[in-house]
This record gives sequence, structure tokens and C-alpha cells, in this order.
Amino acid sequence: MQAVKAVNQGIAPVTYGQGDRPPRGDYASARADYTCDQNWSAYTPQEHDLYRRLYERQAAQMHGLACDEFIDAVGHLGAPQRIPRFDQLSETLHRRTRWEVVAVPGLIPEEAFFGLLAQRKFPVTGWIRKPEEFDYVVEPDVFHDLFGHVPLLFNPMFADYMQAYGAGGLKASRLDACELLARLYWYTVEFGLIRTAQGVRAYGAGILSSAGELRYSVQSPEPSRVPFDLRRIMRTRYKIDTYQATYFVIDSFQQLFEATSPDFTPIYRAVRELPQIDAGVVLEGETRIAIE
Ligand code: PHE
Ligand code: FE
Repeated sequence: MQAVKAVNQGIAPVTYGQGDRPPRGDYASARADYTCDQNWSAYTPQEHDLYRRLYERQAAQMHGLACDEFIDAVGHLGAPQRIPRFDQLSETLHRRTRWEVVAVPGLIPEEAFFGLLAQRKFPVTGWIRKPEEFDYVVEPDVFHDLFGHVPLLFNPMFADYMQAYGAGGLKASRLDACELLARLYWYTVEFGLIRTAQGVRAYGAGILSSAGELRYSVQSPEPSRVPFDLRRIMRTRYKIDTYQATYFVIDSFQQLFEATSPDFTPIYRAVRELPQIDAGVVLEGETRIAIE
């Protein structure tokens, strides 16, 4: 496919907040749909080693903090010693849930992002962070995208939710409702918690790939944990530079899928009339979910 040079430079989707810097990554080599080649042989031994260290740090603390669906599927990523080859991973994933992973240069515009999800293609950033970003990286890199997002794509219900989200995103673009829908992504796909018989566990990719937030989100008495509520989420602003002040807790992936199945058109309209809620604010009378 043709490379589009002029179009795909310096555009970060509002889904991920915005900064002053243009996004990292080689956008000149991307195709019209923003996908590119992974160029696996260009990873250095140091980069593979950095991936391994990131993987091992998270795997060592995931028990009792990550949900079982994640723990059961993370092995599908393959041996932690090497950054996975996307084509091989896609083969395994496609057999399970008909999803694939595709390489992208980094953050992509939201319509392109939604379009890929709607086709059951998960965009994964090709590059890995610098060693000095071991603890924190501003933009999603290959470790966040793979380790955080891909294991849950092996879960049939969550996989369907992600596709529905993509289709819903294309619709939200036409309704000028992307900001409201982005909050749903943020508070579920990136920072969602789930209630289990063993207690609250993490399923959001931003949590699962974070060294500190995994434990914080599940065990710290500091943040608020409130039950999943679609309208409440769409009204709630979020922080992109600190741990979350509020987490929304689902009971099951089925609940998440069903609660988001209705047509959002009237919901967007209703939510726009309601006051926005700042991150961390707990409303009067709102249930708070206890840890353990
Ligand atoms: N039901 C939503 C709509 O009609 C689409 C959607 C599904 C959005 C799942 C997000 C998640 O717009
Ligand atoms: Fe992410």
C-alpha cells in the first residue's frame, strides 16, 4: 500500500490526552490505515532484554492483583526473552478469537484507531521505551500494548467488546461524541477493575503494564472504587499523569458487554446535559467498593 507522508504526522488521538511533542515513531513508513511493518529484526539485544525485564517485573507481581483471564492468557505472548513477532502472535490469537495484532508507528488518529478495532485488528506500537523509561513512559510502547492489551483479547467476551467499541467509535465520530466515548475506554480498557470471588482484580491495560499502579489500584486505600456505570463514566474526567483517583469496577465482562450494547445516541445527548465530574470525586450516596 501507498505510504502517506503528509497526512499522518504529529496527530495524537484525544483518547490518550494531548501533549506538545509530536508522537514518536516513523509515521512516514505507515500505510494509509496507519499500519506498518513490525521490522522485528531491527530490535537490538538490549531492546529484547528491556522487554524481558519489564515482562518479568509485572509477571512477578500479577498473582492476586490481575484477573484470572489475564493470568491464564499472558503465556500466549510467548517466551519473555524476546519481543514477540506480531505475525506469529496474530496466528495464535486469530485461532482463538479472530483478532490480530498489527504494527503501528505509535499513537494514531482516533478514526484510524476505531476502524482497526472494528475489523478486530489491535494496533501495537513497534518501538520500545528507552532504558531510562523503565518505570514510566508517557506514550504507549510495545510493552504496554502487548502485555497490557493482548492477553484479554484471548477472552471471547472482551474480544467482542473491543470490536463493538471500535464500531461505536466510528459512530461517535459522526455524533461528535468521541470525548465521552474516550472516557469509557479509559475507565474500562485502560484502567478497569473487576470484582471476583477472591476480591477486586485489575483487567485494564494501563494498570496491568504499570509497575506501581497494579498494586495501588487493587490494594491502596487511597483511590475510590465505584461500580461500573456507563453514564457516570461518560461524565468523569480523567488524569493522564498520575495514578487514577477513581476506578470503576465491573462484575463480569458480560456485564460490560451488555451495558454498552444499547444505542449510545440518546445516552450521549443525556450525558451532555449533565454536569461533568472531576477525577476522584465521589457523588453523594454513591456505593464504594471495599477492597477484600
Ligand atoms: N452501543 C454503542 C453505540 O451504539 C457502541 C459501543 C459498544 C461503544 C461498546 C462502546 C463499547 O454507540
Ligand atoms: Fe493502552
